[in-house]
Amino acid sequence: MSARVIRFGVIGCGLMGKEFASAAARWLHLDRVEFEPQIVAVCDANMEATKWFKKHVPSVERTYTDYREMLADPEVEAVYCAVPHNLHAQIYVDIIASGKHLLGEKPFGIDKEANARISAALIAHPEVIVRCSSEFPFFPGAQALIKMVEEGKFGRIIEVEAGFWHSSDLDPTKPINWKRRIATNGEYGCMGDLGMHVLHLPMRFGWKPNSVRALLSKIVSERPDGKGGNAPCETWDNAILACDVESADGGFPMVLSTKRIAPGHANTWFIRIQGTELSAEFSTKNPKQVSTLPYSPGQQQAWHVVDVPYKSAYGTITGGIFEFGFSDSILQMWAAFCDELANGREGMQQSFYCATPEEASGSHRVFTAALASERTGQTIAIDWRE
Ligand SMILES: NC(=O)c1ccc[n+]([C@@H]2O[C@H](COP(=O)([O-])OP(=O)(O)OC[C@H]3O[C@@H](n4cnc5c(N)ncnc54)[C@H](O)[C@@H]3O)[C@@H](O)[C@H]2O)c1
Repeated sequence: MSARVIRFGVIGCGLMGKEFASAAARWLHLDRVEFEPQIVAVCDANMEATKWFKKHVPSVERTYTDYREMLADPEVEAVYCAVPHNLHAQIYVDIIASGKHLLGEKPFGIDKEANARISAALIAHPEVIVRCSSEFPFFPGAQALIKMVEEGKFGRIIEVEAGFWHSSDLDPTKPINWKRRIATNGEYGCMGDLGMHVLHLPMRFGWKPNSVRALLSKIVSERPDGKGGNAPCETWDNAILACDVESADGGFPMVLSTKRIAPGHANTWFIRIQGTELSAEFSTKNPKQVSTLPYSPGQQQAWHVVDVPYKSAYGTITGGIFEFGFSDSILQMWAAFCDELANGREGMQQSFYCATPEEASGSHRVFTAALASERTGQTIAIDWRE
């Protein structure tokens, strides 16, 4: 049977737009998938940025500088949008209104109000499939932990810690860019940049914080502006959120952290779950390793550390002994999105679907409460019924 080809347009031809093009070009890596993306159109406000696509992506037929023109292109049936955060609300709303499916980058709106505009557009257009980019749960080690949660292996959960840590901003001589300005990145700062990655699994598991106490830090106050001077760094560099999660058996603390200045960490996404019957950890720092500590009353407590095989959500040509990496997680996320477009949620080849707009909205509630906590020095309650 020939593959169902999904014709994509890309809005935003920067870092992440190229990652998608690379995943689409590497589709042959996937084994036994009967759907595939084809990038037929690209759009960037800066025409220069589209040139890379013209050079490297033979399927690209048309380039645009105005995304509205691309949305009028009947050849484009789905869109990947990877633009600065201040543009999410308007562009996502217009994509949804055009009837095209959307994989949108996080944080899905620069703030809670912008996110609400996207949610309202979705209510008006339930026919389009909209998902939020979040690739780390597709690492085989994360998939192993997801299975443990789904199978209820942990017993009563004692505590959860999840985080995403970078160190690229440790260097104060790194020039400023849009990610360090409130107008383009948003007041959330590092939470808007990194937080959806951290909250994707807690939201999927239904671990919604009842309250949050936040400690937010600004560490580098100004950076070279690229014109010989300095520009203020306005956004939060690091955030630690202490959350109180309610659960059927009494609730547990959950510590979430997003850090742009974490010495020694390049791109470390991790989750640790401690339970009365099992504890488990996965971190992209050691992408092959999953650690588990099963416990029976009175028995020894011993960590078991295994190199998990390359066993991804979607099968690949890669042998089981080889390593999984960032670009593999992007490829897997795209397979999940295309699978859902081709076959619907119920018909997907495997059950782990991409982050939903509802999960992204949940992250906005947490970040907005975190900002209020920082302002007031108080613990802020989150009402999930609102
Ligand atoms: N999933 C991930 O791991 C991950 C990693 C990095 C960034 N991101 C997200 O991806 C998005 C983009 O980040 P990036 O790092 O690719 O940024 P980037 O700066 O590399 O690229 C953004 C591109 O958008 C273009 N652009 C700006 N305004 C536009 C407009 N009106 N119409 C069309 N194009 C426009 C810019 O010219 C630029 O080429 C952000 O939402 C960011 O949070 C996700």
